[in-house]
Amino acid sequence: MTDGRVPRSQSQWATGGADPGITTIGDDLLRNIATPVPRPSLETEHLVTALTSTIRRLGGAGIAAPQIGVPQSVAVVEVRRTDMFPDRPESPLLALVNPRVTAWTEEELEDWEGCFSIPNLVGRVRRPAAVTVEHVGSDGAPISSTFEGYLARVVQHEIDHLNGVLYVDKLTSTRTLTTLEHYRRRIASGS
Ligand code: NI
Repeated sequence: MTDGRVPRSQSQWATGGADPGITTIGDDLLRNIATPVPRPSLETEHLVTALTSTIRRLGGAGIAAPQIGVPQSVAVVEVRRTDMFPDRPESPLLALVNPRVTAWTEEELEDWEGCFSIPNLVGRVRRPAAVTVEHVGSDGAPISSTFEGYLARVVQHEIDHLNGVLYVDKLTSTRTLTTLEHYRRRIASGS
């Protein structure tokens, strides 16, 4: 943070309700494979703008187009610290069009994840520590990017959305599922 203020995560998510603009678990949109964008266009730019304003409004780190009802292979990632996740490293806005994980490390890291499409819960997920992702730029040219650490986690979570996969499919154990209220208490108690 640059100004010392920590944004609050979207309160409805934190208290158990889904945001009215967000598709929730149980909707087929979240289980279908998103359609690749044939060629990035003005429409794609508008979609990226809509996704960006949604994560900023909700205080999220990433969001995929199916979560706002658009079955296209587009996601945005922008990590900011919030009251819920005060320690995560921040990263600038990144638009991913037709992203595909093409390489990953054997080393895996485990951490908490949540999702606006699964209100009120977080759980533990193990993922490769770093991944290489192929995607396309706004001019349609292929881009290869490598991500590591927390950013790699968020990027993988969003690409999973585009493949109909949710973080709850990948929990280290369903016994790690925790309400946000309990999670907050854990942070407060430092355990
Ligand atoms: Ni999600």
